[in-house]
Amino acid sequence: VKPSLDPAFSSWEFLLDVDGNTQLLGAGGFGQVYKAFTDKQQTVAVKIVKLEGASSASLIDEAIEKENAEISVLKAVRHPNIVQFLKSERIKKGELCIFTELISGHSLSELMQLQRRPFDEAAVRNFSKQFCTALHFLHSRSPVTLHRDIKCSNIMLTNEGLIKLIDFGVAKEVFATMCSTKTAHGTLHFMAPELFSEDEGIVYSPKTDVWAFGCSVFEMLEMKPPNWQFRWQQIPLRIHNHDMPQLPAEASALLRDFYGRCVQREPRRRAATAELLEHKFLQ
Ligand SMILES: Nc1ncnc2c1ncn2[C@@H]1O[C@H](COP(=O)(O)OP(=O)(O)O)[C@@H](O)[C@H]1O
Ligand SMILES: [Mg+2]
Repeated sequence: VKPSLDPAFSSWEFLLDVDGNTQLLGAGGFGQVYKAFTDKQQTVAVKIVKLEGASSASLIDEAIEKENAEISVLKAVRHPNIVQFLKSERIKKGELCIFTELISGHSLSELMQLQRRPFDEAAVRNFSKQFCTALHFLHSRSPVTLHRDIKCSNIMLTNEGLIKLIDFGVAKEVFATMCSTKTAHGTLHFMAPELFSEDEGIVYSPKTDVWAFGCSVFEMLEMKPPNWQFRWQQIPLRIHNHDMPQLPAEASALLRDFYGRCVQREPRRRAATAELLEHKFLQ
């Protein structure tokens, strides 16, 4: 029988290291991720999201409600390249725990730091194939499921070489106003131009996910996101009014074309995941 994770656990505890400290697996702008052990005798990952005091209690309630609703949708998503969501739980007033499958490996951004160099084209092809399969699966669901926060720190590679999408930006619009502003800034580089248009507001779509994936391809080859050299205040205008930076000179014509299909300014001309999967670069 295939081993599986039981989401119906009722209690859990942090797994500690030899010094009695919690085992931090990673941290981003929204929370810390630790190792935890459930009363079903399974080891999982728990992300603790703290919503800070500046916002009102009703706003926190609203954000947590929204996050819980989205997590119940994500719990039904089963794909080898997508982290398995187990459940979410509110522990304190402004504290939410999100339980997922524990992944042994590193995010692509950690891997680049650990190897002190970007990825070569063969690696980018391998990651992109797996990534696009997962994104196509999400976008083909009904209703459409979006990731909303695609970047190299949210793409993990298991020790066996399997890509896993993590950190869905479920209630990110609401959370961004409550957590440290650092987070919102970190995500700006990956936002599609239409997200900065005055009239429509921030409306995520499958095409904004594809744009962010294109930016992640840039990051895999440069170790930095597009427009990294600009201060965050300048980023929205930069993306809105300028062409995207080119890939490094060594990139092949096929890879350039693949990237170009992802970062088309006009959403209707931008590739959908089905087209990306058919692209010659991935064959
Ligand atoms: N399920 C998991 N298993 C192992 N490590 C994880 C898991 N989820 C997250 N991590 C690690 O923790 C880091 C931060 O997690 P993430 O969910 O991206 O939080 P944030 O919203 O704060 O960015 C990731 O980049 C990764 O290194
Ligand atoms: Mg993250």
